[in-house]
Amino acid sequence: MRKTLPTLLAAGLAAAAFTTSTQALAYGAGDFFTRLGVAKVAPKSDNGSLAQGAVAVDVQDDTRFAFTLGYRFHDKIGVELLAAEQFEHDIELSIGGDVVDVASTKHLPPTLTLQYYPLGGTEARVQPYVGVGVNYTRFSSESSELGDLNLSSSWGAAGQVGVDLLINDNWALNAAAWYIDIDTDASLDGAKIGTVEIDPLVVMGGISYRF
Ligand code: NI
Repeated sequence: MRKTLPTLLAAGLAAAAFTTSTQALAYGAGDFFTRLGVAKVAPKSDNGSLAQGAVAVDVQDDTRFAFTLGYRFHDKIGVELLAAEQFEHDIELSIGGDVVDVASTKHLPPTLTLQYYPLGGTEARVQPYVGVGVNYTRFSSESSELGDLNLSSSWGAAGQVGVDLLINDNWALNAAAWYIDIDTDASLDGAKIGTVEIDPLVVMGGISYRF
């Protein structure tokens, strides 16, 4: 507890030197970047119903490795593409509260957003951003005990928020979330049985690296 004034001053100077030495951060125009992390795809809680409302649909969460690639063509404006391992979701189908089948599907959710960085080009170490864009989701490997389940591909809007906490010239800690509108037409043995609204929140935590 007995820190002397010189000790405190030295610590303060060291902190100032550290801050100064890393002040050429100014992330902005011309940066290519990638973000790597773990993403959880959490579909909204009520995913609609099939067969004229007889069957309730509940699509379960999945968590996978994910990454993004992006480019800042202006200090405050960039584009980013979200990619990931294939996500696999269990789909509970229930009638009157009783689960009658656990179907499943895999999907890839590439999502392209146009982004705004309000503090881009400044030396702020906390760099938030928002984005809007589009998602394309292609489903595969659907399985169900009820028959041959097929889910159509989906195009939908996407929104995004995120923040980078800059560590140095290249590395940052990152947290990001996307809301994605994914609606798919379900068919069983070739017959259309309704629409499944997945509309997930995708939450990702990891690191950012700029080139
Ligand atoms: Ni929707």
